[in-house]
Amino acid sequence: MAQRAAIVTGASSGIGLAIARMLGEEGHALTLAARRPEKLAAAADELARSGLDVQHVAGDLGDEQAIVDVVRRHEQRFGRCDVLVNNAGVGMGELVDELTTRKVDIQLATNLRSVFLFYREALPMLRRAGAEHRNALVVNTASISAIRGEAWLSVYSATKHGVVGFTQSMNKELAAAGIKSTALCPGFVDTPMTDFVKEHVPAEAMIRPTDIAEAVRYLLGTSPGCVVPEIRFERPGGGLGAPAP
Ligand SMILES: NC(=O)c1ccc[n+]([C@@H]2O[C@H](COP(=O)([O-])OP(=O)(O)OC[C@H]3O[C@@H](n4cnc5c(N)ncnc54)[C@H](OP(=O)(O)O)[C@@H]3O)[C@@H](O)[C@H]2O)c1
Repeated sequence: MAQRAAIVTGASSGIGLAIARMLGEEGHALTLAARRPEKLAAAADELARSGLDVQHVAGDLGDEQAIVDVVRRHEQRFGRCDVLVNNAGVGMGELVDELTTRKVDIQLATNLRSVFLFYREALPMLRRAGAEHRNALVVNTASISAIRGEAWLSVYSATKHGVVGFTQSMNKELAAAGIKSTALCPGFVDTPMTDFVKEHVPAEAMIRPTDIAEAVRYLLGTSPGCVVPEIRFERPGGGLGAPAP
């Protein structure tokens, strides 16, 4: 069995891939999950070429069975889960008077419901890790829009507020089990998700995925008596720095 192991969702690019790479460097065997199989396989190959112990499981994490499959495949291969990173997410901008029900449902299922279900499915392994070393960790990628709701991104903002609230509840519910949860709340990060805004906010003026990964590296080293409920990452001057389209 691996000494330490982690599941990272949304691991095929951007923030999730940077966190996965860091967790691998820190000695974790990895299960990477994301939606598009080819993109995910390319990310997993890249990490494997640098010597990391990695498998990948593709699926739409808005689908309950896909979540069950990721956790089952992880347990079959690695037998333990010390770190769960709920990072898969999608933002679909719309004004409230034009909301499309399908887009509302996709964002709720991917950004919020999947977080609930990943906890439920991974908890037996997380509880065993927590009992062993009191430092099992769940990292949930929220957003700065979890702190301040954004126009045009109202549904996205609401799902990310939900992620922060659920993280707080988990820290109460799972404290005795040695399982700690942290919500990450970044402003614009230079990933494919922010391509739509790079005309107004250049990539080099954005937060880097490695900034987020380094914060998670810090979380790994905190002592069992220290919980970090959330971390905000802002660009200098604060705010998103671009008007909603
Ligand atoms: N970039 C930012 O400025 C920013 C700021 C705050 C918060 N965030 C959050 O950070 C997280 C990661 O985003 P990112 O910026 O790194 O963007 P990204 O590079 O586009 O990564 C998004 C990841 O989520 C996966 N994903 C999306 N929908 C999925 C689904 N239904 N099932 C399975 N996987 C799915 C994607 O896989 P596919 O490509 O195959 O769909 C991809 O691996 C998201 O939760 C996002 O809301 C981003």
